Amino acid sequence: MRLRKKPHTDEKLKQFEDFVTVGEVEPIKKDLTRELYVELGTGMGDFITQIAERNPQINFIGLEVEKTCVLSAARKVREKNLSNVRLIVFDVNNISELFGEHEVDRLYINFCDPWPKKRHAKRRLTHVRFLEMYKKILKPEGEIYFKTDNRALFDFSLEQFALAGLEVRDVTNDLHADEPPDNIRTAYENKFSAAGVPINSCIARFANG
Ligand SMILES: C[S@@+](CC[C@H](N)C(=O)[O-])C[C@H]1O[C@@H](n2cnc3c(N)ncnc32)[C@H](O)[C@@H]1O
Repeated sequence: MRLRKKPHTDEKLKQFEDFVTVGEVEPIKKDLTRELYVELGTGMGDFITQIAERNPQINFIGLEVEKTCVLSAARKVREKNLSNVRLIVFDVNNISELFGEHEVDRLYINFCDPWPKKRHAKRRLTHVRFLEMYKKILKPEGEIYFKTDNRALFDFSLEQFALAGLEVRDVTNDLHADEPPDNIRTAYENKFSAAGVPINSCIARFANG
């Protein structure tokens, strides 16, 4: 019997090419009439699709390195018929190539990989190395919304924020104890919360912004 070859993720992603970019990507041409919020490590798109649905006047870009995750996210965008979301298969390490100076109004970092080994600290998306890149692309008054289940990563990130000259507000080690009504739970947030793990969260902004 001849087995039918399962189409590749690349092939499947082609159905979404009106809002998904794979491979070489041109720098973003910002729509100056609308705010731009960017999520780093979008995963399967639960967060970005919900927040975009609630805020149709804002443009959203999700950056995610894993194509299979982008495919799941793309299906959700299509299902909800959202016209304000763009997804890019992209490594955040190269974020400076994607956005011009001060083009981004807000960044979301939701449950980024903790990279627990000390020698991998530079890979954490809240390492000062990344914060310096974010400073260039964020509007001076722009903010970074950060959530994680990982207390060690959270404490490390607060140190890095201070080191990079960011001020923090709404710092909590248990977001769900008094959950803000506008909090949108990500897939990882639901998973960890269901397992009884408290969620750490804060909002950071460059002090001289
Ligand atoms: C732990 S998951 C969290 C997913 C989602 N944000 C959530 O909260 O449910 C981290 C995601 O970040 C992506 N990621 C990790 N490093 C990345 C990088 N350098 N650039 C883009 N995406 C990255 C991973 O592929 C993964 O989908």
